[in-house]
Amino acid sequence: MATQSLPPLPPLPPLPKPVASTGFHISKDQLTTIVPVAVAAALGTYLLCRYVNRKSCKKGQVNKTINKDSSKVVHSFDMEDIGSKAVYCRCWRSKKFPYCDGSHAKHNEETGDNVGPLIIKKKDA
Ligand code: FES
Repeated sequence: MATQSLPPLPPLPPLPKPVASTGFHISKDQLTTIVPVAVAAALGTYLLCRYVNRKSCKKGQVNKTINKDSSKVVHSFDMEDIGSKAVYCRCWRSKKFPYCDGSHAKHNEETGDNVGPLIIKKKDA
């Protein structure tokens, strides 16, 4: 039995030379993909946050801290117990709520608001 010799194989293409890494590198082709994707992701995140914040908007709340576990904050006083004068908070920032402690001044300064207390007093006789 005669042995057949196979034809010689064609030469292999040269392997690409490994690029010496000099750190993080992004090519122009990669940039043309990365930039639009990053812009779209940022815009999508911004719009999603705006949508979610609008859904759970708490900006309209005036009471930020007082009896938040209660569905309604109500105080009741008998006229006879008020004495000659009582000063009640209407800005919801007082540490002595429902009484005014002057915190409305800081609130007004920070927000440009103009709220002040409700003062109830007996007429001078
Ligand atoms: S502290 Fe609220 S009105 Fe004065």
